[in-house]
Amino acid sequence: MGRMILYLSTLTLLFLLSPGLSYPLIKGKSNHTGSNLFPVTPPSLNVTGLADACTGEGFDAVTLDDQGAMHYFRGDFVWVGSHGPAQLINETWKHLHGPIDAAFRNHNKNKPLEHQRTYIFQGSSVFCYFEGSLLEGYPRPISQEFPGIPEHLDSAVECHEGECKSDSIIFFKDGTVYIYSTQEVPAVKQRQWAALGNCTAALRWLERYYCFNGINFTRFDPVSGEVLSARPLDARDYFVTCPGRGHGHNVRKNATLMAIKDQCSGQSFEAFSSDDKGRMYAFRGGLYFRVDSSKDGWHAWPLSHTWRNLHGVVDAAFSWENKMYFIQGSQVIIYLSDQIFIPVLGYPKPLKEELGVTEIDAAFTCPHSSDLYIIRGNKLQLVDLQKTPRSPGLEKQISHAQVDSAICNVNGLFIFQGPLFYHYNNVEGLVSSTELPKPGNITKHFMDCLS
Ligand SMILES: *[C@@H]1O[C@H](CO)[C@@H](O)[C@H](O)[C@H]1NC(C)=O
Ligand SMILES: *[C@@H]1O[C@H](CO)[C@@H](O)[C@H](O)[C@H]1NC(C)=O
Ligand SMILES: *[C@@H]1O[C@H](CO)[C@@H](O)[C@H](O)[C@H]1NC(C)=O
Ligand SMILES: *[C@@H]1O[C@H](CO)[C@@H](O)[C@H](O)[C@H]1NC(C)=O
Ligand SMILES: *[C@@H]1O[C@H](CO)[C@@H](O)[C@H](O)[C@H]1NC(C)=O
Ligand SMILES: *[C@@H]1O[C@H](CO)[C@@H](O)[C@H](O)[C@H]1NC(C)=O
Ligand SMILES: *[C@@H]1O[C@H](CO)[C@@H](O)[C@H](O)[C@H]1NC(C)=O
Repeated sequence: MGRMILYLSTLTLLFLLSPGLSYPLIKGKSNHTGSNLFPVTPPSLNVTGLADACTGEGFDAVTLDDQGAMHYFRGDFVWVGSHGPAQLINETWKHLHGPIDAAFRNHNKNKPLEHQRTYIFQGSSVFCYFEGSLLEGYPRPISQEFPGIPEHLDSAVECHEGECKSDSIIFFKDGTVYIYSTQEVPAVKQRQWAALGNCTAALRWLERYYCFNGINFTRFDPVSGEVLSARPLDARDYFVTCPGRGHGHNVRKNATLMAIKDQCSGQSFEAFSSDDKGRMYAFRGGLYFRVDSSKDGWHAWPLSHTWRNLHGVVDAAFSWENKMYFIQGSQVIIYLSDQIFIPVLGYPKPLKEELGVTEIDAAFTCPHSSDLYIIRGNKLQLVDLQKTPRSPGLEKQISHAQVDSAICNVNGLFIFQGPLFYHYNNVEGLVSSTELPKPGNITKHFMDCLS
C-alpha cells in the first residue's frame, strides 16, 4: 500500500514537473517518406471546404487503427494522423456514416481473432474492422457483442493486461464507467469516476490513457480513474496540428532537428536498448524512439519525458534486473523500471567506479543474464554485474572496427553501425566470426520505413 501511494505521488510529481510530459503530437503511420510531425509547409486546413479539425469542437471518438494510424472522428468526418484533411467517414470505414459514438482498437492476445480489431459504436450497433474491411456479421447489436454494455455510448477505450488487471474495455456513458473484462466469461463492473468527468472520447496511446472532454483532454489512471494531469490541456496543442498552435511549431524549419526526429532519415543512432518488459528503445541526439510499438505510430521524445532529468546524448544503454543503465561520457545513471522510470539515488556516478572501465562505445546484456558485455573499438569485454567491485575481464577482438550500439534479445545479438546492423545468434557468434555477416538496414527492419 505504501508503495502504491509512493508510486502515484511520483507520477503526479513527474506530471507537475513537466506539464508537456509525453503528449502525442502524432502522425499516422501510413506514409513513412518523411517526418510528417513537423511539416515544412504548415498544413493548409479547410482547403477542401470540409470540416476543420482545429475549430475547438472536439471529437466524437479517437482511436488508433490496426496499422497504427490515429483517427479523429467528428460528425460525418474523420481526420487520419495529426494533420490529414477531413474525409467522409465512409471513405475509410466502409458502410459507416457519421456521427459515431465511440471507438477503440481491441487488445486481447489470448483471442488472436479479436486482437487489433477496431470496434466502432453507433447507437445500438457496433461495427468491427480489420485491415480496412468491415468484418462479416457486422454491424451487430451492442447487447450481443458486449452483453451488459449500454447503447448510445459516450466513449470507449481498450485497457491492456498489466495496465488493467486483465485485458478489458472501459466504456463511458452518462457519468458511469463500465469495465468489461474480456475473459473466458466476460464480466462487467460499474464505477463512478466523478473526478474525471464525462469523456466524450477516450484513447490509449503508448501505455497512457486519455479522456477527452470536447477539445480538452486529461490523462487518467485506467484502474482507479484518478486524474493524472494537473489541468485539462487543449488537444490542438498536442494531438492535432493546428496553425499557430502546438509545442513543436517553432522548430518546424530546423532541418537538422527534423532529420533527428525522423525515424526514417537514415542517421545513425547512438544507442539501442531493450528491457525485460520487451520494450525497445533507440536513442539519438537527446531524443528516443520506442521501437517495439510501431502499432502506436512513430514519435521522437525528449529523454526527460520518460527518464526524469536525463538530457543530452546517450553513448550506451542496457538493462539488468529491472534497472536501466545509461552511459553518458564517463558517467553512469540508473533508473528503476516500474510503471514509470524512477531515478536511483546516488547517480550519476563515474563509470570507473560502477563498472571498472573509463569509456564505452556500446554495452549490452542478454535476457536473464548478469553478464554485461562492453565494446570499445574492436574489443569486447565481459563484466559480471553480480560481483563487487566490478571489473572487466579479458579483451576479445571482434571484426567490427567501430560500433555505435548493440542489443541482445530473444532474437539474438544485433550490432549497430551507422545506418546498418549486423546479426549474430549469440556472443560466441560475434567473437568467433572472422568476417562481417551481411548487413541489414536499420530503418527498414527496425523503423518500418518503406524500401
Ligand atoms: C507520402 O507523402 C508524400 C508527401 O506528403 C507524398 O508525395 C507521397 O505520395 C505519399 N506516399 C504515400 C505512399 O502515400
Ligand atoms: C471549414 O469548412 C466548413 C465547411 O465548409 C465550414 O463550416 C467551417 O466554418 C470552416 N472552418 C473554418 C475555420 O473556416
Ligand atoms: C460515402 O458517402 C457519400 C454520401 O454520403 C457518397 O457520395 C460516397 O460515394 C460514399 N463513399 C463510399 C466510398 O462509399
Ligand atoms: C456527465 O453526464 C451526465 C449525464 O449526461 C450529466 O448529468 C453530468 O452533469 C455530466 N457531468 C459533467 C461534469 O459534465
Ligand atoms: C477546456 O479547458 C479550458 C481551460 O482549461 C476551459 O476554460 C474550458 O471551459 C474547457 N472546455 C471544455 C469543453 O471543457
Ligand atoms: C536545430 O536543431 C539542432 C538540434 O537540436 C540544434 O543544435 C540547432 O541549434 C538548431 N538550429 C536552429 C537554427 O535552431
Ligand atoms: C535503408 O532503407 C531506406 C529505406 O527504408 C533507404 O532509403 C536507405 O537508402 C537504406 N540505407 C542503406 C544504407 O542501404
